[in-house]
Amino acid sequence: MKAFRLLTGIFFLAIIAGCNNKPKIGFLMDTISLDRWEKDKELFEEQVEKMDGIPLVRVANGDSPTQIDQATQLLYDGVDVLVVIPVDLHASRDIVKMAHKNDVPVISYDRMIRDCNVDYYVSTDNIHIGEQQASYLSRMAPSGNYALLGGSTKDYNATLLHLGWMNVLQPLIEKGDINLVLDEYVKEWNAKDAFSIMDSFLSKTNTPLDVIIAGNDDLAAGAIQALRQHNLTKKVLVAGQDAELEAIRNIVAGDQTITIFKPIDALVSTAVNMAMKLAEDEPINTNVTVNNGFKLVPAVLLSSQVVNRQNIKLTVVSEGYLEEGDIYKEK
Ligand code: GAL
Repeated sequence: MKAFRLLTGIFFLAIIAGCNNKPKIGFLMDTISLDRWEKDKELFEEQVEKMDGIPLVRVANGDSPTQIDQATQLLYDGVDVLVVIPVDLHASRDIVKMAHKNDVPVISYDRMIRDCNVDYYVSTDNIHIGEQQASYLSRMAPSGNYALLGGSTKDYNATLLHLGWMNVLQPLIEKGDINLVLDEYVKEWNAKDAFSIMDSFLSKTNTPLDVIIAGNDDLAAGAIQALRQHNLTKKVLVAGQDAELEAIRNIVAGDQTITIFKPIDALVSTAVNMAMKLAEDEPINTNVTVNNGFKLVPAVLLSSQVVNRQNIKLTVVSEGYLEEGDIYKEK
């Protein structure tokens, strides 16, 4: 009996020691309120576990001080690497500073943490995404009245998208072909605000609107709701981003023109591979650098695809991102 107890003791000790050796990878998320972030979370947990690490995910629900507290706690819990989707592009600097004091590297995920010594950046080329949206719609409507609905000013991606939009639109504006009739950033990426902005614009003006370019599908959904109220759907071209199920269904219905599909699976696996290597002190390969205002951050930027009515099956469906049955089923 004594020998049995000793053996069980050794067995449990071995398990505990085994767990302790596993790298702990923290994932600080802004929100999981969109399908895409749910997917990021699910894949992150799955992939870290597959690589024999321990995923520690925390969601700040849009509150920057909460995210900083969560970082403090994860560092206290002995996390080896932090992967961060910053709620606030500036305030999140404090996370990097705290992490570095604890010798913990930080990967800025999807969104850049600005003006600090962040270690790596994994994202898509967000200027290019803006260009993809604007060039598609300006090829369909080379002249007319355009409305721009940008994202949260706390998110650097909103600035990059806007840069992309203007790269394409500015020459057409200067030629006098396109009028910018509305150009606003929507607080906190809030779809209800996007609705109110579009609704009050459409109520106040008789100017016919031809195009709405929105920072993501959620804002596009708010705008489409306003168009519905003014009987304008299908008369106005709309672009979004994220390939959310609702947006793809709006594209099928003809209420939205395009969305942008980002390779969430590849983004997550790139960040997880990088994090596991950092935890093991292995070298990291990156192919570009991106300026964050403080330094050139070594980065991996993955490419994005335009999704329109015609290529849904070849993009989001064939890549296993969405199920055909969900897209085409009756509402
Ligand atoms: C951005 C991200 C978009 C969108 C948005 C709102 O940073 O690039 O894909 O999801 O946040 O959460």
